[in-house]
Amino acid sequence: MQLYVDTANINEIRHAAALGIVNGVTTNPSLLAKEDPSVDVRQRILEIYEIMEGGHLSVEVVSTDTDGMLREADEILSWFPDATIKIPMIESGLAAVKSLSRQNIPTNVTLIFNATQAIAANNAGATYVSVFVGRLDDIAIDGIQVVQEVCEIWDTQDLESQIIAASIRHPMHIIGCAQAGADIATVPYKVLMQSLKHPLTDAGLQSFLNDYAKMQAEKAKLAGKN
Ligand code: E4P
Repeated sequence: MQLYVDTANINEIRHAAALGIVNGVTTNPSLLAKEDPSVDVRQRILEIYEIMEGGHLSVEVVSTDTDGMLREADEILSWFPDATIKIPMIESGLAAVKSLSRQNIPTNVTLIFNATQAIAANNAGATYVSVFVGRLDDIAIDGIQVVQEVCEIWDTQDLESQIIAASIRHPMHIIGCAQAGADIATVPYKVLMQSLKHPLTDAGLQSFLNDYAKMQAEKAKLAGKN
């Protein structure tokens, strides 16, 4: 399963990219709104694009009508031609996906909360379907179970869109989505960093370093005696 980082923060993206653990970045209007408002959206997106060196970058439209979405897609593609256009899972969005897919422009259908929405997005020609896990958990619906359902249907029906598990809230979500067979999980930076940590790794490293230092000290003591 590939990992993307779900953020518009330049420092977070730079760090995650430097570790070599992410193949892409997903942004959305809320994530962009969290960042410095003096930087314009185009500039920020291009900065992310440069850091990602050709990795996946989803940029979301904010229009809610098909023509507006297609106009925005054109604009985003004029910034960089390999953009993935992120489109909300609404009827006008599906029509935009159909049109973009006929032009071989990659799309990521976002705000998917069940398998029927995922199937419709696939059929409209979506390159990616983003199934939101955490927001389902928030309303007492098991988000991982929905990802499992979608993955099972994809296997049975041999459907084409890549499945992105989105709205990830903690490392257990990453494991659940990988077990279910999602192609990609897009993960907030904080959760990504949490997922790298294990107390036994830190304790193990500390004892290796202590033992090595002890050995060096003993060596130095012996050398001093001779
Ligand atoms: C997906 O691409 C979205 O940006 C994202 O995962 C939203 O998740 P949230 O529930 O953390 O806002």
